Amino acid sequence: MPDTIDEQLTKHLTDIHSIEEQALLQMKVAPRLAGDPELARAFRLHLAETESHEERVRARLKARGAEPSRTKDLVAQAGAVGMVVFARSQPDTPGKLVSHAYSYENMELAAYELLPLVAERAGDTETVAVARSIAEQESAMARRLEDGFDRAVDASLRDVAPDDLDEQLNRYLADAHAIENQAIQLTELGPKVAGESNLARVLAQHLEVSRHHQERVRNRLKARGGRPSRFKNLALRGAGVNVGGFFGAQPDTPAKLAGFAFAFEHLEIAAYEHLRRVAESAGDTETVGMARQIVTEERAAAEALRGQFEAAVDATLEKRELTAR
Ligand SMILES: [Fe+2]
Ligand SMILES: [Fe+2]
Ligand SMILES: [Fe+2]
Repeated sequence: MPDTIDEQLTKHLTDIHSIEEQALLQMKVAPRLAGDPELARAFRLHLAETESHEERVRARLKARGAEPSRTKDLVAQAGAVGMVVFARSQPDTPGKLVSHAYSYENMELAAYELLPLVAERAGDTETVAVARSIAEQESAMARRLEDGFDRAVDASLRDVAPDDLDEQLNRYLADAHAIENQAIQLTELGPKVAGESNLARVLAQHLEVSRHHQERVRNRLKARGGRPSRFKNLALRGAGVNVGGFFGAQPDTPAKLAGFAFAFEHLEIAAYEHLRRVAESAGDTETVGMARQIVTEERAAAEALRGQFEAAVDATLEKRELTAR
């Protein structure tokens, strides 16, 4: 537990260093799994950027008389292996890879938007500048991935026979159902972690919306005659969904919860964007319409969460009785 705002800032930098270590491993493997030359190129480009992020964060730690945490870095690297194994194990590897990478970039973006808020309060202007410049690159990479959703779906469906498209679509619906499960679990943490705050209200509102999404997805799957056995596997499939170790499995501060939820919303955005495209290929206009509506609500939720970053940092510092100097 950090005692001063300086310690809190250093801890944040140490955490960010470990997400960059995880990102490095992911960027090294991703081009080979991308299944598309353009996507592979985007990953390679971001590998070079990620190398510079790791160096710049390490330099900030050094300037503050600290160094990266070996333990945290190792845990993060193990998380990267988990993600790669997960993506590889899925029949639609490119789609899963791009969805997870998109969520990961948004997790980094959240971390680099939260960082300058802490750094400002600690009076570390150099860290503020570094964070802002890295945030721009994370954001640009997220956009490149989003621009590549069409390609990722094409690469995923390339080897699927037209007759199997319906089964593939059911699979995407089952995945969306599993992701909503996790979204519900995450938003339920709201009151415990964020107390009586606007962040807690945003989460409570989205909890209701998520339950409604899940129900709609379940109804579509049923209407399409999705096999019930699929439901049994939902929990298992969901287990592969991991947006990284930075915010931890159980985000314990308002700032971490806001950042983690923001990243998770982007996993959902990617899931519904992919679902919509697969439904278009399968000619299921009802699912297309549903995915379109839901994705709009996920985007709104992500923006609402982003709007709570500053208040969440203040609440986190207050909770720990760390005041700006
Ligand atoms: Fe990065
Ligand atoms: Fe990144
Ligand atoms: Fe959501």
